[in-house]
Amino acid sequence: MDTVTQISVLRERLAACRQQRIALVPTMGNLHAGHLALVAQAQRAADIVVVSLFVNPFQFGADEDLAHYPRTLAADQAALAEAGVDLLFVPTETELYPRPLAEQTQVWVPGISDQYCGASRPGHFVGVATIVCKLFNIVQPDIALFGRKDYQQLYIIRRMVADLALSVQIQAVETVREPDGLALSSRNQYLTRAERALAPQLYQQIQHTAAQMGQRSAPQLEIELANRLNVAGFRTDYVYIVDADSLAPLQVGSKRAVILVAAWLGRTRLIDNMVTQLEEATCHSVN
Ligand code: PAF
Repeated sequence: MDTVTQISVLRERLAACRQQRIALVPTMGNLHAGHLALVAQAQRAADIVVVSLFVNPFQFGADEDLAHYPRTLAADQAALAEAGVDLLFVPTETELYPRPLAEQTQVWVPGISDQYCGASRPGHFVGVATIVCKLFNIVQPDIALFGRKDYQQLYIIRRMVADLALSVQIQAVETVREPDGLALSSRNQYLTRAERALAPQLYQQIQHTAAQMGQRSAPQLEIELANRLNVAGFRTDYVYIVDADSLAPLQVGSKRAVILVAAWLGRTRLIDNMVTQLEEATCHSVN
């Protein structure tokens, strides 16, 4: 596996491969089995797999964990080489953002970028859309892969690709979970032992709500889920049950719902989600 830090060198390497199908897996490093699942799916779908590793300052708020975000380049390189990745792109901040961030051209997917996680993390999705758009322009992949755990991020990237007519196919990869159900995340390592013991309840309570869909209205189920999480020891940031295909409120005719949750355990913010099919008859009662 080649590790490349400069855009020009990466472009040169890829120029020789343009007859083949190229996949991009964008990451912020500190890789876990969830990232390796993206790589495995990329390898099944393409001939050349490029992984980018960049802790993107543009998507972190001023009071967020940019300075402490785990950086484990040597271990990440070893894992990706072992997985058979072809090219690793590890740009510096000045390579990607030669100007001050405040002067950086921005990609903003309106509306949805300011809801849910975007409401709690103002500017976050502008940072995500901007860096992902830039990586797409640099790598020009045929496909790019993102995890379903970041459900809203995946939706926003798909919107950006459609709105800007970008020539890349977006593939979603299922969330990888610990045996106890906790979704893998680099931020799980911030959890104390006691918080880690509580953390699986996030997904368990989401599953409980999914099993009750159609029995009570979505707003009622949202309140109940938030209450159960708060009683369990979480500090719920938000709970929404919305249309899985539009991320808008459920309406008669919605086919699938997604339960979106963000909740704090101590100083760690966890997110998770679950998609459920809606039966014709229950569509009316979930609103
Ligand atoms: O999901 C992530 O790790 C990041 O948001 C991404 C897509 C690599 C952009 O920095």
